[in-house]
Amino acid sequence: MQAKLDELIKAARAEIAQAHSPNDILNLKAQYLGKKSVLNSLYSELRSLNPEDRPAFGQKLNDARIQIEGFLFEQEKSLKLKAWEQKSQVSGIDLSMPGIIRQRGGLHPLTIIQREIEDTFMAMGFEIAEGFDIEDEFHNFDALNTPEDHPSRNLADTFYLDNGFLLRTQTSTVQVRVMESYKPPIRIISPGRCYRNDKPDPSHSPVFSQVEALVVDEGISLSDLVDTLQHFASIMFGGKVRSRIRPHFFPFTEPSAEMDISCVNCGGTGCRVCKNSGWLEMGGAGMVDPNVFQILGIDAEKYSGFAFGLGIERIAMLKYHIPDMRILFENDLRMLRQFS
Ligand code: PHE
Repeated sequence: MQAKLDELIKAARAEIAQAHSPNDILNLKAQYLGKKSVLNSLYSELRSLNPEDRPAFGQKLNDARIQIEGFLFEQEKSLKLKAWEQKSQVSGIDLSMPGIIRQRGGLHPLTIIQREIEDTFMAMGFEIAEGFDIEDEFHNFDALNTPEDHPSRNLADTFYLDNGFLLRTQTSTVQVRVMESYKPPIRIISPGRCYRNDKPDPSHSPVFSQVEALVVDEGISLSDLVDTLQHFASIMFGGKVRSRIRPHFFPFTEPSAEMDISCVNCGGTGCRVCKNSGWLEMGGAGMVDPNVFQILGIDAEKYSGFAFGLGIERIAMLKYHIPDMRILFENDLRMLRQFS
């Protein structure tokens, strides 16, 4: 019996090594391991052995089966490899060549912050309004109650285009566009790029981004503005941050204010980031000037509103500890990769 088994393994090895196709493999599998195989018949012969010899021989049969399965597996693998090699020769493509790793891009830090700001305001029930980068004097200045001789209209400050249009200097243009088209109640924010003829330095860039907020309804007061600012600041910078407003002037708000938050670096005790004042400037704000309502046909007796404009770069710089605004516009991969 042992001889029979050795013979069988030898024959199986030789014949399986000759297999040429997946079909050959299937047939040989049936021939050597199937129901009608020699191996299977040897299993039935076990019964004719002495009971004490059975376990040892049973083990041998199992070993033989495992060996034959191994032959089949190896031959199948080498057939597949050959087919694959042939295919790649025919197509001229080396399928074994390592692939090119494509690096995925990431979001620009300003985009990340803009989306965070949008999420924060949307959670408060604001909608997002869009405006235009190229605007006319009406939307950028006139409708915002800005007099003809106001310094911000100056060529030294504003980029005028040859066709009489200009690059908007503030997202407040969107206040005008929204109030032109929609009736109160209004509750929108509008993030976007603005342009001013400023020399680049650590805190200025001729292209920068603001997010405008405008709320118009019956009974809106300055405390709604303060509340919204405080809520926004604590979501963006954490619960401990405080906010305040200081009197200021804008032609399109009355009263006007500037918004500060307590320094997110030192907590308000004074440091380099806040120039020892304990406060950081966030942007301009105020109650919509009744003149603006009048220009845009909104009943100033019935409605009141607040507006503010936040600097997005400022927020990004504070959140990511970026010391110089220009870094945000240089597209240096060493900086950008830190956000991907
Ligand atoms: N547009 C103003 C600026 O660019 C900011 C501002 C927005 C002020 C809304 C008041 C109300 O500085």
